[in-house]
Amino acid sequence: MKIFLTVFSTLLVLMILFLGFIFSGIYNVAAGKPDAPAIVWVLKTVRRNSIRPRADKVAIPAYVKDVPAYTGFSRFHETCEPCHGAPGVQQAGFAKGMYPHPPDLMKSVKDLSVRHIFWVIRNGIKTTGMPSFEKTLTDKELWSLAVSVKHLPVTSPREYEEAIKK
Ligand code: HEC
Repeated sequence: MKIFLTVFSTLLVLMILFLGFIFSGIYNVAAGKPDAPAIVWVLKTVRRNSIRPRADKVAIPAYVKDVPAYTGFSRFHETCEPCHGAPGVQQAGFAKGMYPHPPDLMKSVKDLSVRHIFWVIRNGIKTTGMPSFEKTLTDKELWSLAVSVKHLPVTSPREYEEAIKK
């Protein structure tokens, strides 16, 4: 009985503290003020562990192996470049004020699989500014974008410029 009361009162205190935190306005949501390292760790870990198993389940259609590497770049130029930049192109000014900051895909996609990239473009990432393109692009368009995005680290500014002219 004593143990039950101790556990119950501890949980009650934690809940009151948690509710107090939520309603107090202590937490600064300003995009110009980075989150505390512990919060960044929690958010990154949640994101990684949420995307990985879902992306692993994505089946790659047979036609994807024949998609030319640069086909998705004109759409990337119209839709993604303002936030992420591109080979030889800086991201737009507004993206510099976003938090979390849209990553430089020329570097960060090296460690991501095409499945992972496809999943992220299709579904977006909640409360980060990364939109879901599920309703606006077909799966074929999403795959050609994912293939091109995976090629970003090995695309020169000149190759990119040529590809977006087509
Ligand atoms: C309005 C800005 C914005 C636009 C437009 C946008 N993104 Fe993003 N994107 C983000 C942000 C912010 C993140 C970082 C999310 C995070 O930290 O969890 C991100 C993350 C990503 C990631 C990395 C995901 C990971 O797990 O590391 C990929 C890949 C990506 N975006 C691809 C694209 C592509 C392709 C397009 C265009 C179809 C696009 N994004 C359009 C803001 C944007």
